Formats: sequence, C-alpha cells, structure tokens
Amino acid sequence: MLIFSGTSNRPLAEKIAEELGVDFGELEINTFPDNENRVMVLNKVLDEDVVLVQSTGISPNLYYMELFLILDGLKRSGAKSITLVMPYMGYQRQDHIFRSGEAVSLEVIVKIIEELGVDKTISFDLHSIKISEIFKKEIKELSALSLFAEKIKEMDLNDFTLVSPDMGGIRRIKILSELLNNAPYISIEKDRDLESGEIELSKINGKVTKIAIMVDDVISSGGTITKGAKFLLESGAEEVYAMAVHGIFAEEGHHNLENSDIKKVIVTDSIEIPEDRKFSKLEIISISKIISQELRK
Ligand code: R5P
Repeated sequence: MLIFSGTSNRPLAEKIAEELGVDFGELEINTFPDNENRVMVLNKVLDEDVVLVQSTGISPNLYYMELFLILDGLKRSGAKSITLVMPYMGYQRQDHIFRSGEAVSLEVIVKIIEELGVDKTISFDLHSIKISEIFKKEIKELSALSLFAEKIKEMDLNDFTLVSPDMGGIRRIKILSELLNNAPYISIEKDRDLESGEIELSKINGKVTKIAIMVDDVISSGGTITKGAKFLLESGAEEVYAMAVHGIFAEEGHHNLENSDIKKVIVTDSIEIPEDRKFSKLEIISISKIISQELRK
C-alpha cells in the first residue's frame, strides 16, 4: 500500500502513514501563474493499492480540482485500487434540492470521483443520513463522536447537557448521549434563510442545565455555535462548550468564537487549520488512529 496526499491536509496523511508504517508516495503539484494546477505522480503505482488523503475546508474548489487531477494521474499510472480518505467532504450540505433550479452539488462531485476511479471513499460524520445513498461505490462513514465522548469524560463535568444546535443534529446527539451512558440532551430549533444565510433560533426543546455542550458536524462561519451559545446562556446555562467534527472557521468565525462566551471549542484535524485561524480557546483532537484502524482492515 502507498499513501498519497494532496495539499489540503498533509500532516494528517503523514500521521496515518507513520501509524501504518507504510510508504508515502510523492506527487508533484505545480500551480501556473493563472492558477491552473498540474499534477504528476512520481512513484511507480502500477498494480498497487493506493490510498489518497485529501480533505476540503476553506478552499473547496481548489482542493477538489487538485483531487480530480491526482485521481486521474494515479489511474493513468496503473493503480490497482484507489481508496480516497476524505475526512471532510466539502459541498455535502448541498446534498439535495432545497429550492427548485438548484444544482445538487454533492451528487456532481460523487459522480466525478467515481468516474475517475475511486473504489472506496472513507469520510467522517457526514452531514446527513442521505449522503451515503448518493455513492454507487463503497462509502465508509467513520465517526469522531467516540473521541468527543472520551474528551467529555476527561473534562469531568458535573450535571452537563448535550445540545444539538439544530434539529438536523439530533441523530448525532443521540449517538453521543448513548456513548455517555445516556447523558441528557436537548435541541435548539434553528431556521436559516436560504437566500440571505441568516440564522434565527426560536426555541430550546428540553431543560437547559448549568453546563451545556453543543455538538455539531461542522463549524463554518461559527454563526450557529455563537448564536446557540448566547441563547443557552440567556436561557440559564452558565458554561457553554462547543464540539464539532469539522472546523472550517470561514470569514471571521475564529475571531467570533474566541470573543464569544464559549469556554472551549473542540474540533478534529479532519481539516487542517492554518496557524492564523487558530485561537486560544481551540483544541484539536486527531482522527488519525480511527482512519489507520479502518485502513488496516
Ligand atoms: C447545518 O446544518 C450544519 O450542521 C452546521 O450547523 C452549519 O453548517 C454551521 O455553519 P455556520 O458555522 O456557518 O453557522
């Protein structure tokens, strides 16, 4: 097995290769002055099973284009099988038609990667249960929720309640609750104006306790989490923590979270967070061992 990595999250790919004790394949990725990319596979991959690690994040279009070119390079060089490890798959919040005339962006991406020869895709905590149905080839959804459960146990908090910041996250919060001996959970009712993107929180379903731990799949602009935290604090919580599998921190998200009343924000390394977007309340936990375990099978 050979592991390759695009430029989106090389530290994670290196960790996985080290944990598995397998060789790291080299790619040459150049960007021309007009921002077009050129990709070249430098190792011999003829009849090899290869693993490609590429996530998205703040620059999904760049990383997807890079991914498509790497896949083409690997396939043309004779790779026997390609397993794509895509811990965060950008565009997954566009997994169906919300308003007539819209493209189903995730379906477009899945069509392309499967056409380019991906045999199996490994990803984490997908946005919705419907997403795996879009794939024709194998899709393995792994989860970072067990890491969050361990973290919460380590934090040794008394009388905490898990909070889903929207109704779409109920499935996730139920799983985490079970991992924590049926810890109590509540949910916030959130509406997003699809044209302006504005969020409105209308109601909390359940009892707010002193310590609230909000759990989401993704933090993008941070609007959902910061507004949710404010709502919980106004509704009786005294300490609010936030956990999300994927931390994009778009726009001013990192500053807004740092300046909010949230005590701590915990995300995984599914997306590489650049140094200038890290902040003092942020803690990053690694999903590498979960991926290595899956690849060992
Ligand atoms: C929405 O359904 C997702 O689960 C997240 O709550 C949302 O995408 C987070 O986005 P933002 O941080 O921009 O509010």
